[in-house]
Order: sequence, then structure tokens, then C-alpha cells
Amino acid sequence: MNSIDSLLHESRRFPPSPEFVANAVATPALAAAAASDRLGFWGDQARELLHWHQPFTEVLDWSNPPFAKWFADGRLNVAYNCLDRHVLAGNGDRVALHWEGEPGDSRSLTYAELTAEVKKAANALAALGVVRGDRIALYLPVVPEAVIAMLAIARLGAIHSVVFGGFSADSLRARIDDAQAKLVITADGGWRKGKVFPLKATVDAAVEGTTVEHVLVVRRGENDVEWTEGRDLWWHEAVGTADAEHEAEAFESENPLFILYTSGTTGKPKGILHSSGGYLTQVAYTHKNVFDLHPETDVYWCTADVGWITGHSYVVYGPLANGATQVLYEGTPDTPHPGRWWELIEKYKVSIFYTAPTAIRSFMKLGREIPDAFDLSSIRVLGSVGEPINPEAWIWYREVIGGGHAPIVDTWWQTETGAIMVSPLPGITSLKPGSAQTPIPGIELAVVNDDGSPVEKGSGGLLVITQPWPSMARGIWGDNDRFIETYWEKFADAPGGPLYFAGDGARLDEDGDLWLLGRVDDVMNVSGHRLSTAEIESALVSHPIVAESAVVGAHDETTGQAVVAFVILRAEHAADHTPEQASAVLRGHVATSIGAIARPREIFIVAELPKTRSGKIMRRLLQDVAEGRAIGDTTTLADTSVMQIISDRMDAAG
Ligand code: WT7
Repeated sequence: MNSIDSLLHESRRFPPSPEFVANAVATPALAAAAASDRLGFWGDQARELLHWHQPFTEVLDWSNPPFAKWFADGRLNVAYNCLDRHVLAGNGDRVALHWEGEPGDSRSLTYAELTAEVKKAANALAALGVVRGDRIALYLPVVPEAVIAMLAIARLGAIHSVVFGGFSADSLRARIDDAQAKLVITADGGWRKGKVFPLKATVDAAVEGTTVEHVLVVRRGENDVEWTEGRDLWWHEAVGTADAEHEAEAFESENPLFILYTSGTTGKPKGILHSSGGYLTQVAYTHKNVFDLHPETDVYWCTADVGWITGHSYVVYGPLANGATQVLYEGTPDTPHPGRWWELIEKYKVSIFYTAPTAIRSFMKLGREIPDAFDLSSIRVLGSVGEPINPEAWIWYREVIGGGHAPIVDTWWQTETGAIMVSPLPGITSLKPGSAQTPIPGIELAVVNDDGSPVEKGSGGLLVITQPWPSMARGIWGDNDRFIETYWEKFADAPGGPLYFAGDGARLDEDGDLWLLGRVDDVMNVSGHRLSTAEIESALVSHPIVAESAVVGAHDETTGQAVVAFVILRAEHAADHTPEQASAVLRGHVATSIGAIARPREIFIVAELPKTRSGKIMRRLLQDVAEGRAIGDTTTLADTSVMQIISDRMDAAG
């Protein structure tokens, strides 16, 4: 893969074709409108893209930064916007979801059918006592019921907290406790890599002694489950028998919509809070303009799991608010064969495809014969998200998946931003492989020095967002001090501040285009998923044989970064295990404590860790070691022999 230097010297340009420009959704007029009156522009977008039961009179209230209120006196219902209004507009027969299960079973739901299912689910949840403001945890595979449940919760003005099905019982419990959820919606199991993985058993282990009153269980895996009478209910019984009539109540624009937990620099995940009107406006706006959506003819597919923000914004809310037809796939890309994704593109004639660089790189490794065996000629727009896409992967994506012509939109955003913030616009931008390029119309950002002053073109610094945006996080659930500290304190007093500190390094090239350079904090990005070094370290030290640990994100050809841990064993246990045994035990321990995604690629058992004289672990040095680089300046090390010991051990470990 290219290093950052060669990345920055990438000089190929790909302007849009005249045919694309002729039919493009986003035109230069859009950017001009946003530039001349930013807030007026967002007000227009909110009115054009959504149905307001009660129109708003004020676009933005920024009187109490960093807590924004968008369209505050307007009232809407998010689910009504994603469902009923499309049916009322005569599009009830349009397919909303082409769902494909991993074993090959499939189910298509039209907007009319999806609306009816959501109404039934809303009635069933209301019968269980769910009211506006209640928190409900979801722990589900990618099945239509996940989408139905999210929309039913939104319809009632309640708050969902979707927990990715790969997280452990402890992780699920921590999220249930933090949000004080009263209900969990799960499935017996889901399909993954040709097998049913159990979900209900994990929920059983997680909910004991929590605020959870009921567990609603979708039947999917047909695997055996334990049943707690009075607490557990089958979805098909509770929802199946519910009334299909339900009138959507209008809630205020700032009514909370969901909490989504993400990793930060400490061990405790943050519950990022999003609200309704502003969030829905920006996800609908970006989904339409960035992906050039023509809802009557396009078939869209975003491969993200609904457990991540990409699934919330670009599987559920953006596409459905826009009345799009989309593919939803339960399983892994290589089951039962390595061409499964391409087979689905051919089957459903997918025209817009959105995935992560890590997936593209693993397909590149397998060779182009696999996608070449399928008809991918329906593809006309490709998207990338989660981490920087290196130019080789970009070119391969365009050539092999995009037929040599599809524009690629490299979209930069975060759980906290709620929606896409930086991306080329496919009918306007001349594309540069590897660069996310420009903020979308309506978004203002900058690359700044440590003092908050903007860098010159051709220089690097920290990415900040300089003006509030509609889909911005409204806080951290239960911990607004942490919200302020993490994102707003660093540049609170900068000129024009407060500025939002994204945590990413970035560089502006000579044209003013943006190149993302990765996180500047102790957050790792593995396959486009955020993991905290501190969280994995605390999982490691919770094991009885561990005395101390340090975790770093090391460069990885496929996954972008990989988790690498350095562990000191407790003296009394050191002799009981070979380093190989200890490492295997601890890799498994991290997977069961947090989830398989956090399992370290490597664990090195060492005698010491490099520390500064004040006792801070020098992660940069460990990262050098983990990436096999020569060790840099160690003059601030308390004991310079430590690095030698570590690299000797690593050499020995091969
Ligand atoms: C972090 C946010 C946004 C949904 C998926 C991840 C990195 C995201 C890009 C991109 C370079 C990217 C950043 C960011 N990131 N997209 N196109 N180019 N880096 O959401 O888990 O909240 O992670 O992902 O480092 O801060 P998330």
C-alpha cells in the first residue's frame, strides 16, 4: 500500500462524464445557494426533503453552544417521513427493501408493506408500555425486523440504542445500564459464515439485574433458546397479532432519535445522542446529493451493519426518507462463495454501491476474476467510507467494480457528525484518488494548527468543523461534560469558535482539497470500526495473568489498522505459560470481553514497557515496533534498554 507521502503526490484526475453531468442531482447551483445563505439553504433543504406536521420558523438556535437546536419549533415524525408519506404520494408499491439472508432466503418489502409492519410493531411496543423518551436496546442481525424495530421506536418518539451483534454480553450490559433501557429486541440467532450464531443467549447473560423489563425475540436462526416466562416474548406473536393501523404523532424537531455507543480515548464507550429534524434533513440531503439518487430507477446498496452509524444513516434513515429501493444483506461477503456480493449486485441490478476500503482491499487480494464473473454493468456510483482509501484500492474499485467509469465518492464523517460532511459530488467534482476533497455544500470546516489558526494550502494540521451542522451530535448520553471536554474544549477560544475537534489529522493540498491522515488520539480504526486502546487495555488487565498492558494500532494491509498488544505477565503466572499460550488465551479473552472485532492481531509478552520519566507509556515507540520500523528517538525513555528487550522478544517470536 502507498505511504502517505506517495498518497499526497497522487496526480490522476477523473472529471465526471458529460452524460453523468447531464442527469446529475447535485449541480453547481446547490453549492452556490449554500455559499450565499447557509442557514437559509438548510431551511430550504429541511422543507424540501421532509414533511413537517408543523413548520419551523427558526433554522438554528446556537445560543447555548455546543448544544445546537435545529428547526426547534417545527414538529415531525421521523417514521412518517420514511414510510407513510411515500405511500400517500402513490409510491406504496415501490420496493423499499430487497432483503437477502445469508443462506439464500430472501424477502422484498414494498413501502406499503414496510409501513404496515412498522405500524404493527409500534402498536406492539406501545402495548408493552413503550412511550416517548424510553430507551430500547437492539441486538439483532441484519434482518428486516431490525429496520422495522428502529422505525417503530422512532414512530413512538422513543430512543433506540442499537448494539452491534458482534459485541459481548458485558459490552451489551454496559450499554443497557448506561441508557437504562427498559426493553431489548433481539433474535434467537443470525447467520454468519454459514452458521447460526446465537444472540438470545448473550442477551440472557446481559440483562440479568438491569432495568430491562422485556426481551422481544425475532425468530431467525431457529436455534434453541432459553425462555424466561413473563419477560421474554416472540416478535411474531407480539407484532404478528398487532393492529396495522397506527397514526404517527408529531414530535418536536429536537426529540431524541437514538443513542449510538462509540469508542473514545477512555475505556468507557460514549453514548452519542442524535435528534430528529436536523439529523433526518442532513442524512436525506447527503444521501440524495452525494450518491446522485434517482429514487424511481436506482437500486442502492450500503453494506454496513445497522449496528454502526453508517447503517443508521445510510441503510435506514437516509434511503428511506428519500423513498429509495435498497438491498439489505444479512451475511458475510464470502459466504457461501467469495463472489457473493457481486452476485447480489447482478441479481438486484444495484446501481449505487457503498462500502469500506477494507472490504475493497480484501477483494483486491482475491483477484479480479471473482467480480469479473458477474454482470456489474448496473453500477453507476460507488461510495467509500470509514478510513482513507488508498489510490490503488480506489483505481481497482473504479476499474473492476465501476466498469472504469463510475465516480467514487470518498465520504468522510463520524458517528458524532451523524451524516456525511466531506465528499466529492459525483456530477461536479473532478475526482482525486485518495482524497475526500471538499466539504459538501452547507458544511464549513478547516484544517488548523494547535492554536486554532488555519493552515496554509500544502500543509497539515487538525480537522475542525467551524459552524454547527444539522445532524451534529446533541451530546453524550448522561455525560455532557465529557461531550464538551472531548470535542469542544480544545478550540473553545479559537477565533470564530468554539470549533468542533474531530480527532483526525488532515492536510490541505495546493488545490485546497482535503486528505485525511488518520486519528490523532488513542482511537484505532480497524476495518472502518473505531476501537479504543484504553478499552482493550482494561480488558487485558482484567485477566488474572496480566500485570500491565499497552495497545497500539499498527498499520495493516487489509484492515487499515490492526490491534497489537504488549503485555507484561504477573510474575507468579509468567512461568505457567509459554508466550504463545499466554498470547492465545489473552486474544480469546479480549474477544469475549469486548467482542470479536477487538481481538488483537498479535500480543507480545514482554518484560517491560517503554515509559517516560513521568510514567506515561510511549505508544509511538510501541507502534514503531509493531510496524517493524526502526526505533526513533528514545532520549525521554526512563530505561532505554526496554525497547531493546521488546524488539529482541519480537524477533524471537518471529
Ligand atoms: C472515524 C469515524 C463514518 C462512518 C464510519 C466510521 C475515519 C471515516 C473516513 C474517510 C478517512 C475516515 C475517521 C473518523 N473515517 N470516514 N472517508 N477517510 N477517514 O464512523 O466509527 O464514528 O469513525 O473514521 O478517522 O474520525 P466512526
